[in-house]
Amino acid sequence: MANNQQPRDSFGTKLGIIAAAAGSAIGLGNIWKFPYITGVFGGGAFLVVYLICIALIGLPVMLAEFIIGRRGQKNAIGSFKALAGDSKWYLSGTMGIASAFMILSFYGVVAGWTLDYVIKSLTNTFAGLSPDEIGGVFGGLVSSTWTPIAWQILFMILTGFIVVAGIKDGIEKYAKILMPILLVILLILDIRAITLPGASKGLNFLFKPDFSKLSVEAVLSALGHAFFSLSLGMGTMITYASYINKKENLGITALQVTIADTAIALLAGVAIFPAVFAFGVEPSAGPGLVFITLPNVFQQMPGGYFFGILFFSLLSVAALTSSISILEVVVAYFSEELDFDRKKATILATVAITIVGIPASLSMGIMSDLQIFGLNFFDTLDYISANILLPLGGLIISVFVGWRLGRNNVRDEVTSGGKYKAGYIPVFLILTKVVAPIAIAIVFLNGILG
Ligand code: PHE
Repeated sequence: MANNQQPRDSFGTKLGIIAAAAGSAIGLGNIWKFPYITGVFGGGAFLVVYLICIALIGLPVMLAEFIIGRRGQKNAIGSFKALAGDSKWYLSGTMGIASAFMILSFYGVVAGWTLDYVIKSLTNTFAGLSPDEIGGVFGGLVSSTWTPIAWQILFMILTGFIVVAGIKDGIEKYAKILMPILLVILLILDIRAITLPGASKGLNFLFKPDFSKLSVEAVLSALGHAFFSLSLGMGTMITYASYINKKENLGITALQVTIADTAIALLAGVAIFPAVFAFGVEPSAGPGLVFITLPNVFQQMPGGYFFGILFFSLLSVAALTSSISILEVVVAYFSEELDFDRKKATILATVAITIVGIPASLSMGIMSDLQIFGLNFFDTLDYISANILLPLGGLIISVFVGWRLGRNNVRDEVTSGGKYKAGYIPVFLILTKVVAPIAIAIVFLNGILG
């Protein structure tokens, strides 16, 4: 690997790394998507499968990405090339760039809704509305033409601005301050939610598995969502790990990020499902679930006006610390492999992704007739990226680290050259060589063909 350029930008502190990686992982996936797909797929049983996917596949794949990125010291494609020369492995990075494009284009749309909800909360739009009317407000927003697009564009501009500023002074600085505040707010909402009348119904729905409700489709979605939520399978963690100092303990970092991400998803579930039942919203209401249930909760709590504003602001921030990590995958690739300067790379990627996002936004309104295999354009982007590209990327990453990189490289990287103990390596290798690839392949083939 020719490394004669300037030293690469990097994370400044240990806390910064965790905040940035957790900031990437924790986002709309946890607070918007996790509750709504859990609702669609029937609750507790889906949660159990999701947790199994996180532990047996997500965690090892996260460590695998960390190893590839820190050892390769490059973007999602360049790191494979650095470690495996010109052999075809780098194509998994190419697929990752495609996933980044697709994910960020619909992610920007949902993030735009959260910005709109900040203003709706500020102007007290939900005051005195019935649960049905609150549902109508959401429907009205997503089906209109210009408003959501304007918010989406604004959000994408914000994302581009932070990415241009680079790692330490952009991504790290904001993530460190804002993520802890989100946690506190979520805890307060949890307390309100579980003290609502009839809260136990919601908690039962989330925590009492009924495996008879589990479909093949649900299992594929649980796997896909494990990848989506942990930001895996497209090179985000490869790219971020390339900015991690050689002295950091990668195994511990992967574990901490995984636990933080899962905890936030569960806390979001606990905030939302009791409210779903208390206010008579259908758990399977789909993408509107958080946007409909939580404004109801805010109405029912002292200081709800204030908490509503704070919650949607922080949700926007959580979306932002994730969207920058998605954009960074593309920008790092454009600037390192194609030699664009960082600014040009950022502008180009941001504009292109925003444009793809526009039909995604319109697909809930004037373009809803455009259906691809029965899904609108928004859902198609979501389905192909999360349920197909990310698991496939994860499979390749797992096989690469397990079989191609080999034990000695893995040991050297996770122990930082002998500095740390890593008794888990044999287990990690079994998971990456055998368990994760086979499990992904089975779920995948069943889900796609079945
Ligand atoms: N993990 C992010 C979330 O949960 C989304 C994301 C997916 C980020 C893939 C990076 C890569 O919101």
